[in-house]
Amino acid sequence: MPVVSRDELRARIGEVPRVLLGHLPTPVDFCGRLTEAVGGPKIYVKRDDCTGLAFGGNKTRQLEFTIAQGLAQGADVLIGGAGSQSNHSRQLAAASAKLGVDCALVLVRDHKSGSVQGNLLLDDLLGAGVELVDVPTQELLDDAKRALVAKFEREGRKPFVVMQAANRPFGAMGYALCMAEMMDQFDAIGETPTTVVLCSGSCTQPGLIFGKTALGLDVRIVGIRPILWSYDIKDAFLGVLGQMAKILELDVAFDEARIENIDRYVGEDGYGYCTPEGNAALRLMARHEGILLEPIYTAKALAGLIDMVNRGEIGKDETAVLLHTGGTPALFAYAEELLR
Ligand SMILES: Cc1ncc(COP(=O)(O)O)c(C=O)c1O
Repeated sequence: MPVVSRDELRARIGEVPRVLLGHLPTPVDFCGRLTEAVGGPKIYVKRDDCTGLAFGGNKTRQLEFTIAQGLAQGADVLIGGAGSQSNHSRQLAAASAKLGVDCALVLVRDHKSGSVQGNLLLDDLLGAGVELVDVPTQELLDDAKRALVAKFEREGRKPFVVMQAANRPFGAMGYALCMAEMMDQFDAIGETPTTVVLCSGSCTQPGLIFGKTALGLDVRIVGIRPILWSYDIKDAFLGVLGQMAKILELDVAFDEARIENIDRYVGEDGYGYCTPEGNAALRLMARHEGILLEPIYTAKALAGLIDMVNRGEIGKDETAVLLHTGGTPALFAYAEELLR
């Protein structure tokens, strides 16, 4: 049962502070040749690699809301940080440039920070300050972000950490809207998506789940995890969902048992490393549809979709949507692994 109509959901989210950054709506493409090659469900791609903002990606929709939180608090420098090929950081740098605020990034000195390529190159071109930090994982960057905040405060500035847990419900708002946008598009096409597959570990999937639940849609949302966090991801998603309901003053009940976020496609080497299945999926998409994925998020999502079809976990009579969350500049930092 729907809790709200699409218009009402848009109106509620319309009350939440937002800066407009994206080229929306993004297109939906039917992948006829990929569908045939996979031999399974009809496959569509929701092209969130086309959100604009320095090569696009899912972070555009999130940043519209998360940056607005910072600006509402008077921020004049936006702080970000993750792996050295972070798409969030690159899009944060672009948004900061567009909005005329400074951007300071702390990035992990990792296996991709040795050469200035892909997102790391773009961070510099976009004018962000970049500091490389020696920590084993991006989860351990909090101290470095706190140190940066303290430094800016000493200088009389107003720093705001964009990627922080308290900001996730706001980031997810963009994907509740995306759910409504997608349904409008599928109505126009005359199709009903049965399964949406995407790569997500923090905001994108909870946003879609919120949208689908609030709108009372019977669509399965399968998250493919790019990274193994030290905390329980379902708890984190439920926390985001509960906060969203509170902010939007909507009484939405979430079925924990139906939250699917699968960790089996991260790969042996973990976050930030290619997998053979992902690389094969990337080439399959490129050579059948002329659409480029990247190896760390979206290629693993397509590899997961294909594997689930082969296992019979996604039916051949279904209509599946791959949400392309972007990240394509990272391709250039992975040339060696992709050509191997
Ligand atoms: C290309 C791409 N896809 C998917 C994700 C996952 O996004 P989130 O964890 O915010 O849902 C990210 C960022 O982490 C990304 O850069």
